Amino acid sequence: MLDKSIKPSSIVRYLDEFVIGQDEAKKVLAVAVYSHYRKIEQSQDAIEIAKSNVMLVGPSGTGKTLTCETLSKLIRVPFVTADATSLAQTRYVNEEIDAILQRLVDKADGDVEKAQSGIVFIDEIDKLKAPHGQPRSISGESVQHALLKIMEGAPVKLHNGSYIDTTNILFICGGAFIGLEAIMSKTHGYGFISTSDADNQNILERLNTRVKPTDLFEYGLIPEFTGRLPIIASFQDLSRALLVRIMIEPRNSIYNQFREIFRNEGVELEIETKVFEQIAEIAWEYKTGARSLRGIFEEMITPILYVVPDQADVRKVVIASLFTEPTFVRDRV
Ligand SMILES: Nc1ncnc2c1ncn2[C@@H]1O[C@H](COP(=O)(O)OP(=O)(O)OP(=O)(O)O)[C@@H](O)[C@H]1O
Ligand SMILES: [Mg+2]
Repeated sequence: MLDKSIKPSSIVRYLDEFVIGQDEAKKVLAVAVYSHYRKIEQSQDAIEIAKSNVMLVGPSGTGKTLTCETLSKLIRVPFVTADATSLAQTRYVNEEIDAILQRLVDKADGDVEKAQSGIVFIDEIDKLKAPHGQPRSISGESVQHALLKIMEGAPVKLHNGSYIDTTNILFICGGAFIGLEAIMSKTHGYGFISTSDADNQNILERLNTRVKPTDLFEYGLIPEFTGRLPIIASFQDLSRALLVRIMIEPRNSIYNQFREIFRNEGVELEIETKVFEQIAEIAWEYKTGARSLRGIFEEMITPILYVVPDQADVRKVVIASLFTEPTFVRDRV
């Protein structure tokens, strides 16, 4: 099932190569995935397991989807992604959900046994909440009920008439949950315990920043649904410093990608740290996490990439600031 060499720490180390920051969320997710598969192995000869599905909560563009996709590359179990928004828009919710499981079987090359221990990632789950001013959203709620059915472990019929047992399938849900912080600050009530001890204070602060299933209920998800997602990993807003690192450090970072493009032209691309800081500053203003970095970066690089292929003698391009012209280093003739 899960490769024996995979441990929570090795999962985190792998995620670190692609996802910057979010250390707490990475650990929570790594432990959840690891223990899920350990439990399945043990349950084969021991007691019934209680499955712990995972909820990823945090602002837009902070790495929730990226983390799940990266995770799926490491652990070689069948993995599919679905979008709750589109589930809420279809009239055929149950059919759509069955189709997700069918895709999982397809990912496992038709091996139902293997698919039964796969992972289903359902993104944008916060879109299933009751809309503002309305007590509940009919479509969002019916999607939650339909999802409950498969999260419970009911057998689901596939195309060819055979059944897939969802008991050991791990469900990971993700959502931005805009406005959740306001709910949390209202509902968290550990503050009244007064303590002078710094350690206790730290514990209280950690409890206070933890998202609880009841907060998600308050937000607008049905309690039966939040009750099936006992593990909650919180993603934090990305600081400017993290935004800078995101452009540079991941194996497939924007910087590395464009250096590669220039290298294919026979040109070295050198961008000074200050430029990344300027881009991070602008992206920070946009409040879309890391999502706007690429757009700003490409706006800077496009005019350069337009002229470089015409100039065979250019060997190197140096960008020192977002607001000054780049320097072209040329072959001497
Ligand atoms: N922590 C991070 N480390 C590296 N890259 C990141 C990180 N967060 C975001 N990014 C970059 O921003 C893009 C968008 O991030 P992602 O899709 O994971 O956001 P999200 O948290 O799922 O947001 P949403 O709630 O809007 O779906 C990613 O493709 C990646 O390039
Ligand atoms: Mg996402």
